[in-house]
Amino acid sequence: MLKINQNYLKLPGSYLFAETARRTKEYQAAHPEADIIRLGIGDVTQPLVPAVVEAMRGAVEEMGRRETFRGYGPDFGYDFLVNAIRETDYAARGIDIAYDEVFVSDGAKCDVGNIQELFSSDAVIAVTDPVYPVYVDSNAMAGRAGEYADGRWSRLVYLPCNAENGFVPPLPESRVDVVYLCYPNNPTGTVLTKEQLKRFVDWARENGALIIFDAAYKAFVTTPGIPLSIYEIEGAREVAIECCSYSKTAGFTGTRCAYTIVPHEVKGADENGAAVELNALWKRRMATKFNGVSYPVQRAAAATHTPEGQRQIKSVIAGYLENARVIREGLQAAGFTVFGGVDSPYVWLKVPEGMTSWDFFDRLLDECRVVGTPGSGFGPSGEGYFRLTAFNTLEKTQEALERIAAWKK
Ligand code: MLT
Repeated sequence: MLKINQNYLKLPGSYLFAETARRTKEYQAAHPEADIIRLGIGDVTQPLVPAVVEAMRGAVEEMGRRETFRGYGPDFGYDFLVNAIRETDYAARGIDIAYDEVFVSDGAKCDVGNIQELFSSDAVIAVTDPVYPVYVDSNAMAGRAGEYADGRWSRLVYLPCNAENGFVPPLPESRVDVVYLCYPNNPTGTVLTKEQLKRFVDWARENGALIIFDAAYKAFVTTPGIPLSIYEIEGAREVAIECCSYSKTAGFTGTRCAYTIVPHEVKGADENGAAVELNALWKRRMATKFNGVSYPVQRAAAATHTPEGQRQIKSVIAGYLENARVIREGLQAAGFTVFGGVDSPYVWLKVPEGMTSWDFFDRLLDECRVVGTPGSGFGPSGEGYFRLTAFNTLEKTQEALERIAAWKK
């Protein structure tokens, strides 16, 4: 019989959002009359904006005509999208990204999950805690996380983020090869200032470490001075790979498009200690395992970079940020301690004394018919916290908060 990858057997239970979905489905089946409001997984509810729909429709029509039909696209993205990314997301903010440093893909989740293929099997990985589970699980699947016991992996370095340290991760105290940072943060909804991010860039440069910077939520930043890209920090091109996504920026969770920046300066060592560009390795990996994002989807993504597209997606994001305000202020008025939700679609709250995160999940579902995500699902330091998303409609969000406030009384 085939010998399987044993690392899969070490993974605890199911993927976090699969587990919350399973419990919700079970509850709905047992209570068919329950009008459940979903503030759990960060999935968008607003439709694609008109500029995107128009671009996608035009591209589909091109695909239906012999003279404009296209087969396989370029492995790393069509010129029109790669250049739109370089110009509007970087050059417009004074950041120079070369054409062949942009890799268009079908999702930041895939990129942050796949990037670990470039690391040696004994690389030491640090994650902020709580953390988006994909960074942890993908390294665990590759055998880099060690053993799982009491909610922790033995070979991972956890950088706790909590109310006591203002959700600012401490620098690793032991040798680490790679650190994953996601800002604005999923799940806490908090941000890092330029100075706080610079400490990590400086540390990575001094220690020969790599930063995987997940910027999937950058479009939600409204506070002046908060970095939208790690490349705003001097020296970051030497040590950071940045993953960006259209999922939350432009409502592409079901449409699928993202991009990752791998600067030529980012290097790792081969077995003789010689420097190797990660850009070359990522090119090799993508060309081998990926056939590109479909033409209509890339046209749709490019439409978000036009002035009209920008105006339209910003208006949708403003709506989600308004929901975040409703959640934040509603929870505060009900007596909860809350964090995040200002430059982020996520609000992170402290669960009432004496309850675990999963207790709170069950009570909220049963007594308010509201679904959220238990903090402990994001890591050991998430215990005692809970995440709500601002991605539902304003009406549903307001109703959820009314239910929670009435219940809290
Ligand atoms: C989340 O809820 O954390 C995200 O939706 C998950 C994802 O983007 O994959």
